[in-house]
Amino acid sequence: MMEKLIVHGGAPLKGRVTISGSKNSSLPILAATLLTGDVCTIRRVPDLSDTNYMTQILAELGAEVERASGVVVVEARKIKHVAPYDLVRKMRASICVLGPLTGRLRKATVSLPGGCVIGDRPVDLHLKGLEALGAQITVDGGDIHVDARKHFKGTTLNLMGKHGSTVLGTDNVMMAAVLAKGTTIIEGAAAEPEVEDLANFLIKMGAKIEGAGSNRIIIEGVKELHGAEHTVIPDRIEAGTFLCVGAMLSDGLTIRRCAPEHLTAVTETLRKCGFPMEITKDTITIHGNPDAKGFDLTTLCYPGFPTDMQAQFCALACAIQDTSTITETIFPQRFMHVAEMKRMGANIDLQGATARIRGGEHMKGAPVMASDLRASAALVLAAMLAEGKTEINRLYHIDRGYEHLDDKLAGLGAQLERAKV
Ligand code: EPU
Repeated sequence: MMEKLIVHGGAPLKGRVTISGSKNSSLPILAATLLTGDVCTIRRVPDLSDTNYMTQILAELGAEVERASGVVVVEARKIKHVAPYDLVRKMRASICVLGPLTGRLRKATVSLPGGCVIGDRPVDLHLKGLEALGAQITVDGGDIHVDARKHFKGTTLNLMGKHGSTVLGTDNVMMAAVLAKGTTIIEGAAAEPEVEDLANFLIKMGAKIEGAGSNRIIIEGVKELHGAEHTVIPDRIEAGTFLCVGAMLSDGLTIRRCAPEHLTAVTETLRKCGFPMEITKDTITIHGNPDAKGFDLTTLCYPGFPTDMQAQFCALACAIQDTSTITETIFPQRFMHVAEMKRMGANIDLQGATARIRGGEHMKGAPVMASDLRASAALVLAAMLAEGKTEINRLYHIDRGYEHLDDKLAGLGAQLERAKV
């Protein structure tokens, strides 16, 4: 049943919110459990439709999967090499079973991901990396076939693309290379905390990896991996989204169980705007500021400003009585939220991949359409800022990546409810 979110704007927010485990860490880590026949236990997996798709794919591949309150137990004793199209097509991140299947079975068939609203999202770098390791790759009938039975050996390769490095591409090559003979050096590796988290899980499984979290990862192949337990890192994008909520609408909002060290680009931008913050080891408290200044930001690979926070900062800019600019370099077409925010009265001028936002305009609720996960989150923020009622349709986009977002916001005093369409 399709659902929509009805938001009544203008409510002042206050309080504390607990951050969930990272979606973008959980997905490749769940895929990595395919690398062993032993039992793996993954904790703090957020309850989202994307993590559900991933556990369904593991089960379809032959793994036994149990899931209860954030803990997923996987035993992939005997697995198939063909990932089912019907599940794969629902989530682009399914591509990250390609590396583990290649590593363990030396062959894999996974559907080529289709188009995506946030822009062209090719997988050429994933395939280039696996090919460098010796795999033969063919694309046929919409499927990627990887055959690494004859040749599969460590090598030095470079995964840097024209928009920077690739997160899931680095994950895939790393997950394949841990079981390839010899040494693999990935130059131009993605340095995102989620890549490091995956490497830490692989190391617990017996993999030999150095340098994860930097742009050069060195992997010494091992014969086999064993079962392991792991707790995924806090979701830095959920945390960043709540920081925007706090800056826009609160008189003191504390986010708990977060990792402030993964959020420096976001907190530095907020601090420069003039939003007061107190940061401890795992909490950040932020306060609103009616005299906050505008910002100029450019999305970059980690540790630069994350593309996954761009849309939410667009909503924040609407609340600041000043002009801000946002330039998107990772996914230059990722501005689906702009047209919807304009329908609510936002003053945004989009030229190419740069949005110029004049904040402080009077915004008024309107029916709007969610288009992708982060754009949808940004619309929820804009709706809380606007006067009156906003209806956000296609709520399933939010349920892909924010665990209980509406309950968490309601706990802070937001006026919102779900309704059937
Ligand atoms: N790219 C290529 N060739 C490739 C792969 C990527 O040209 O083979 C390009 C992309 O088109 C893009 C850039 O490289 O311009 C970066 O894409 P990347 O591969 O890093 O994206 P991803 O790994 O598919 C992950 C996150 C995204 C996040 C990006 C960038 C997961 C499951 N997804 O995607 O998260 O935006 O990294 O940080 O980890 C989200 O959570 O809402 C989301 C979209």
